[in-house]
Amino acid sequence: MSARSAIRRAVALGVGSALPSRILTNEELAKTVDTTHDWIVERTGIHQRHIAAEGQMTSDLATDAARAALTMAGMDVGDIDLIVLATATPDQTFPATATRVQHNLGMSHGCAFDVQAVCSGFVYALTVAAQFIETGKARGALVIGAETFSRILDWSDRSTCVLFGDGAGAVVLRGEDGTGTTADRGVLSTELRSDGQHNASLYVDGGPSTTGVAGHLRMNGREVFKHAVRNLAEIGEAALAGAGLTADDVTWVIPHQANARIITSTAQKIGIPMEQVIVTVQDHANTSAASIPLAMDVAVRDGRIKPGDLLLLEAMGGGFTWGGATIRW
Ligand code: UT7
Repeated sequence: MSARSAIRRAVALGVGSALPSRILTNEELAKTVDTTHDWIVERTGIHQRHIAAEGQMTSDLATDAARAALTMAGMDVGDIDLIVLATATPDQTFPATATRVQHNLGMSHGCAFDVQAVCSGFVYALTVAAQFIETGKARGALVIGAETFSRILDWSDRSTCVLFGDGAGAVVLRGEDGTGTTADRGVLSTELRSDGQHNASLYVDGGPSTTGVAGHLRMNGREVFKHAVRNLAEIGEAALAGAGLTADDVTWVIPHQANARIITSTAQKIGIPMEQVIVTVQDHANTSAASIPLAMDVAVRDGRIKPGDLLLLEAMGGGFTWGGATIRW
């Protein structure tokens, strides 16, 4: 346990999630694109994904997730003065989806903004919010990952459309004084990376200043895969080292849920058994920025994650971006 002077910690007090009610199974998808349930399961671990209803926006899912997280925390919007929302599928080009969530929650104080780091978005948003709280700039924060990737998929491209789904997850953070050791509750470390040279491996072929329309997701899956395990293992280890912890200290790993093979290989590389890894990719597919808080919510509500547990988060996505964090729950 590393001894540090007393510091302000960003303590996670609640988590919540929201999924559209419509479930799209692999079998159903195989009726419209040239794929099979067996191929998808073998290559990715995915069995199904949730798809937003017509008119159901990223902000709607985000608002539901935020409300559930506030309820678990026993807090209301009066306790929140910061909303950081990670999304690559905002309701509108501007303003930020976070401001729509703020309005939906009946909140007109504090500040709300989006961060864009695609699948690493939640770890980026958590890092930003934790910094605000640790410096005293914010007292309470909602950190949200929310996506409607179904809106940017090319449903005729079997190499991408089978991989993604819609959903949202949210965590409530509150500033509390810690002793400065790794026994403190709250965010203990965060590490972020990006490398823009990989744009062509994972991107959306549109945008306001290029085509003027939203565009569709394009990915060289094999290329992304190649970098994913290396980057995720590196960032996981960096997040542990940043807090003065090792793999032995970890209770649960909550990885970005893109592919079961990536999750397994990364856990092996870091040296953490799969029994300690939260896996929800089979049920949600890849929900980009929403995947980590969605998985966290599942594991908190089913009783696996308990107060005092040490969580290791790791994510990697378009940019490339990647990030890791340790949190004592
Ligand atoms: O969250 C952001 C980060 N994204 C990721 O982490 C995704 C990383 N990449 C992956 O997860 C994997 O690369 C995929 C799941 C996307 C693909 O798995 P793979 O083992 O790398 O397959 P592949 O792309 O090398 O394709 C193998 C074969 C190809 O056929 P040929 O060329 O060998 O004849 C594809 O055309 O599988 C074919 N294929 C499919 N077959 C049935 C590609 N998509 C499908 C499909 N159904 N849906």
